[in-house]
Amino acid sequence: EAKKDSCFEKRKTQMASSSYFLVIALLALASWQTMASDPSPLQDFCVAENSSHVLVNGFVCKDPKDVKAEDFFLAAKLDMPRDTKANKVGSNVTLINVMRIPGLNTLGISLARIDYAPLGENPPHTHPRATEILTVLEGTLYVGFVTSNPDNKFLSKVLNKGDVFVFPEGLVHFQFNPNPYKPAVAIAALSSQNPGAITIANAVFGSKPAISDDVLAKAFQVEKKTVDWLQAQFWADNQN
Ligand SMILES: *[C@@H]1O[C@H](CO)[C@@H](O)[C@H](O)[C@H]1NC(C)=O
Ligand SMILES: *[C@@H]1O[C@H](CO)[C@@H](O)[C@H](O)[C@H]1NC(C)=O
Repeated sequence: EAKKDSCFEKRKTQMASSSYFLVIALLALASWQTMASDPSPLQDFCVAENSSHVLVNGFVCKDPKDVKAEDFFLAAKLDMPRDTKANKVGSNVTLINVMRIPGLNTLGISLARIDYAPLGENPPHTHPRATEILTVLEGTLYVGFVTSNPDNKFLSKVLNKGDVFVFPEGLVHFQFNPNPYKPAVAIAALSSQNPGAITIANAVFGSKPAISDDVLAKAFQVEKKTVDWLQAQFWADNQN
């Protein structure tokens, strides 16, 4: 009887210790998720070696003894206005990511200048790998983002010069210049060396090859001819 009891006790302890490990694993996962941007570097820098054929998450490091100040520099002329008439949406995004500055490799950050024509917009899009923090340098912007399913809550705000707004990682967001006479300019920082951008309309209606109109008619609850009309439009990119 006593032996049986001790066996039972042992099993209980084993169960307790395995659930203890489960809790630890879940906590580790949770803390990893709170660091959901590019992974932290384990060295001072890892300047991108763009000629390497080795495929890794990011870019292979250039030999540190060949690293120069130029690897961390770009004469980007971000003080100069961009042309906002080259596309239908009336905005022009100049993104400085790891492709432009190789020294950004592994550092989890990038920068953008965004120019808006009067009534121009940076249309609804998401950055699959980055949170964005944006400040208005000139003009006014009506901005917003939508939370994920099932709530799809829309949070929006009118920003004036000097105001700052945050778009959480992965969420659909936009900026619109409501002023019919004056342009607007913003600077944004993003928590990835390569934030990526998915413009919703372009991805859905401008994919190559096109998504079947049966699929999109059902998804958007419209007639197929409405989808065909949308797919026939020119879905220009506003990013350089
Ligand atoms: C690689 O970097 C060099 C100098 O940093 C640059 O001249 C070249 O255009 C880059 N090549 C590619 C494919 O990005
Ligand atoms: C952005 O503006 C530059 C000139 O400042 C122009 O060369 C470029 O085509 C524009 N890009 C887009 C995507 O409209």
